Amino acid sequence: MKRIQLFEFEDLDWFPSQFRQIITDFLQYQLVIWNIYSAIVPKIKEVMQKTGYDRIVDLCSGSGGELLQIQENLSKQESYPISALLTDKYPNVEAFKRISEVSKGQIDYISEPVDATNVPENLTGFRTIFTAFHHFPPALAKKILQDAFAKKAAIGIFEHTERKPLTLILMFILAPLNILFQTPLIRPFKLSRLFWTYIIPVAPFVFTWDCLVSHVRTYSPEDLQSLIADLHGDENYIWEIGQMRAEKLPIELTYLIGYPVS
Ligand SMILES: C[S@@+](CC[C@H](N)C(=O)[O-])C[C@H]1O[C@@H](n2cnc3c(N)ncnc32)[C@H](O)[C@@H]1O
Repeated sequence: MKRIQLFEFEDLDWFPSQFRQIITDFLQYQLVIWNIYSAIVPKIKEVMQKTGYDRIVDLCSGSGGELLQIQENLSKQESYPISALLTDKYPNVEAFKRISEVSKGQIDYISEPVDATNVPENLTGFRTIFTAFHHFPPALAKKILQDAFAKKAAIGIFEHTERKPLTLILMFILAPLNILFQTPLIRPFKLSRLFWTYIIPVAPFVFTWDCLVSHVRTYSPEDLQSLIADLHGDENYIWEIGQMRAEKLPIELTYLIGYPVS
C-alpha cells in the first residue's frame, strides 16, 4: 500500500491545545496499557551502552507516551539507570510535569517548543521519536536523520503503526470504540474530556482520523532505507532498520536506529 502524506489535526498550528492534549493523553493511555514498546527496550539499552549515553532526549513527546515505563524498565529490570527529557513542538507542560513528578525527577522536560527538525545543540543524549516520525514528509524526515548523522548523535525512530489495509479496517472500527469506552478511565479526570467525547464528539472524530492517517503515513522498512540512502556523514556511523513483534499485541514495531561508532 502506497504512503500518502495526508494531514493530521495534531499537525495544524491552529488546532486548539485542549483538543491536542485530549488526543495525546488518549494515545498515551493506549501505549501504557498495552506496553506497546516494551519489546524494544533491550535494543535501546544496547545502543545506549555502545554509545555511552545515559540520557534519552525524547522528541515529539506528546503527553509523554510510554517514556516513563521505558525509563523505569531500563533503570530497574535492565539495570541500566538513565534519565530522560521530554520535548515537543507543542509541549503539554501539564502532562510533562506529572510524569516528572512520578519519576521523582529522573524525567525532566522543556516547557518551550522544541522542533524535532532543528534540535538545539545543548540537548545531548540519545534522541528518540516514538509514534511520531510519520508526521514528517520525506524531506523533513531526512532533515531529522541528517542532523543526527552530521552531529554524530544517536537517534532512534520507533513506530507501531503500519500501512496495511486490514489494519486500517480494524482501526476504523476500534479507534472510535476505544475512545468511547476508555475515556472515563483516563487520568487526571477532566470534565472537558467527557464533554468533547460524549456531548460534542470532537475527540472520537479527531482521534479516529489521526489514527488512520498515522497508519497511512507510516514509513515501511524499505522507505526508511531510501530515506538514509543519500544522507551525508561520517562513515563511522551505523544505521539499523528492523521490525520486531510487540509483546502483548500482534503488531510489528518498526525501528530505525542510527549511532556513531568509535
Ligand atoms: C502522535 S503524537 C506522539 C506522541 C508521543 N511520542 C507518544 O508516543 O505518545 C505526535 C507528537 O508530535 C509532535 N510534533 C509534530 N510536529 C513536531 C515537530 N516538528 N517537532 C516536535 N514535535 C512535533 C506533536 O505535537 C505531537 O505531540
